[in-house]
Amino acid sequence: MSPDRVHIFDTTLRDGEQSPGFALDGEQKLILARQLERLGVDVIEAGFPISSPGDFEACRLIAREVRRPVITALARAVPQDIDAVWGAIREAERPQIHIVLSVSDIHIERKLGLRRDEVIRRGEKAVAYARELCDEVQYSPEDAGRADRDYLAETVERMLDAGATVINIPDTTGYCLPQEFGELVRYVLANVRKPERALFSVHCHNDLGLAVANSLAAVEAGARRVECTVNGIGERAGNASLEEVVMVLRVRQAALGVETGIATPQIAPTSRLLTDLTGVGVQPNKAVVGANAFAHTARSGRHAFKHRLRVLGIVLGDEQVQPAWERFLSVADRKKEVTDADLIEISAFVKREIARSA
Ligand code: KIV
Ligand code: ZN
Repeated sequence: MSPDRVHIFDTTLRDGEQSPGFALDGEQKLILARQLERLGVDVIEAGFPISSPGDFEACRLIAREVRRPVITALARAVPQDIDAVWGAIREAERPQIHIVLSVSDIHIERKLGLRRDEVIRRGEKAVAYARELCDEVQYSPEDAGRADRDYLAETVERMLDAGATVINIPDTTGYCLPQEFGELVRYVLANVRKPERALFSVHCHNDLGLAVANSLAAVEAGARRVECTVNGIGERAGNASLEEVVMVLRVRQAALGVETGIATPQIAPTSRLLTDLTGVGVQPNKAVVGANAFAHTARSGRHAFKHRLRVLGIVLGDEQVQPAWERFLSVADRKKEVTDADLIEISAFVKREIARSA
């Protein structure tokens, strides 16, 4: 049986870009969106159109130009926001409106000043309105990680009845433990009528360093879409890192039984493009894309070597692999650590030498 597909929802241009130090202009956003398309993400969240005319225009540009992935943008549960999203993304090949409204008591009381039943009614109206405009509507009950789970399940069911096609469960404050978050997703799936009416997604923040672990726990519980950002950028400690989620699902596919549509050789170029555009680098020891990420596996064999080349987007011909491996071993003998930069250099050297002797 072929493994189940987990859809990758990239929010680098919305949740990532909103965080201080990561601002991009419309042209830069389009460049990144095109690379995300090459990377093979299923959904691009292009922005929050009501937030500024610049963001609205950037979303519109991406919706027009980037045709393969679903293009979505964020709205609060009010008609002005929903109209702004629709105005910005309606020309997309596959548009989706994303609505967010709080579900935890702390948000409902302190942020909205409403009662639980009023929040549900506001959500229903927003979803029904958005569905009049667009076939695909995602509903995110914000701060679900700290919400009462029965109220969360009731909210989800009512949004499904109102026409939501995707339900996204966010751990907005990065508060949950993996087991807890997995159980929350399992509980919601088990306690709403006909959950198969929607695709279930998750969105985890990294305040306690658990965003990737929580996302994976949710996948094990049945979620089939993960929201994440390149290099894990995002407010405070960031969002679940796309490259980490994807590589865990790839490397441990036999254990987890799911796959993504991501072209892993495009991960390193995408990470580098983001750091070039924002001027913000990744820590050298960052998993998967950090400059030293390969160092600790340098002596773990030819298989790991070839795998790392693939992650970096380096393609070697059959006749190039053996000389590259030998050169790698001699570099590894000389240096304490072999970094990604060394691998790029080794591959370039071998390609040059073979081309010269041909
Ligand atoms: O963190 C959050 O809850 C969000 C929602 C808009 C999904 O970013
Ligand atoms: Zn978020």
